Amino acid sequence: MKDRNILITGGLGFIGSHIANSLMDDNSITIIDNLTSGRLDYIDNPNHDNLTLIQNDLNGLDLTATLKDIDYVFHLAAMVSVPLSVENPIRCHEENVTATVNLLNACVKNDIEKIVFSSSSAVYGENTNMPLKESEIPMPSSPYAASKASCELYLKSFHESYGLNYTALRYFNVFGPKQDKNSPYAAVIPNFINAILENREPVIYGDGEQTRDFVYVGDVARANINAAESDYNGIVNVASGKRITINELYEIVKKTLNADVDVRYLPKRPGDIEHSHADISNMKRINLEIDTTDFEKQLVETINWFRQDLK
Ligand SMILES: NC(=O)c1ccc[n+]([C@@H]2O[C@H](COP(=O)([O-])OP(=O)(O)OC[C@H]3O[C@@H](n4cnc5c(N)ncnc54)[C@H](O)[C@@H]3O)[C@@H](O)[C@H]2O)c1
Repeated sequence: MKDRNILITGGLGFIGSHIANSLMDDNSITIIDNLTSGRLDYIDNPNHDNLTLIQNDLNGLDLTATLKDIDYVFHLAAMVSVPLSVENPIRCHEENVTATVNLLNACVKNDIEKIVFSSSSAVYGENTNMPLKESEIPMPSSPYAASKASCELYLKSFHESYGLNYTALRYFNVFGPKQDKNSPYAAVIPNFINAILENREPVIYGDGEQTRDFVYVGDVARANINAAESDYNGIVNVASGKRITINELYEIVKKTLNADVDVRYLPKRPGDIEHSHADISNMKRINLEIDTTDFEKQLVETINWFRQDLK
């Protein structure tokens, strides 16, 4: 992608900053971010000539004016926590659904080429038809999951009603450098690494036999860019296609960190799903292949980043 005008909502966050950094030298980037969980130092060069930063809530902006001359929109800004959405479903709806519908409206008014939406494997809920295909009926078990499923439906309806081009990417469990470790809702890999590095007892919610399908953040950034450049309108799972239990994952993290710490088991959290494993055949529609042999190398890169960040 070259010489395009790109808007990234949530561009200072974990995934958004990887997209911004990989596109910034060759394109003009506008980021909207309210810094709830994003960080300016996630951007390699925050003073880059090609960067315009709008530090604001998505809901408080004149989006039609902001999207003037934009070619592609990557929409990542959202309430990202399942437990927080269970605590506050109205706020989740405003931040995830209302904000998205406003953004889609502005995309139509500005005739943008395509929007790539960050959806989630959470829309599958407790569906047990593994590996999960995009054609399954959504079974959201949290307001967060319902908000992502709603946005996918709005995307399809805006495509049908106004011809807006879109791809919704259902990420499975993303990991990698810059993942938020300070949030009380931090994801499992940063939780494990951080606890071990800080000599705390790592925690597993449930019995640890729940499975997840992990995908590296660099591959997720690539999925976004490929999706923008593809002519596919629809939903695509973004995952490795391999599943691993949380207990197995903990053993790998422990071995990689050369640590000998026992884990503490706490009750399962509301809204958490039991199993997650993707059918990845649709990834070819956006020309995406993921090399799954690199998992341990990617884990080492992630650990090195957390070590550095701790300093
Ligand atoms: N990380 C994962 O494993 C995962 C899995 C599935 C889906 N997703 C989705 O991918 C997207 C990005 O997730 P992430 O892991 O990078 O999270 P993140 O919290 O690191 O990034 C979200 C960014 O959006 C910003 N933001 C939040 N609400 C905003 C608002 N109302 N207005 C403006 N900015 C706002 C935050 O400050 C942050 O920089 C989210 O939509 C999330 O639901 C992530």
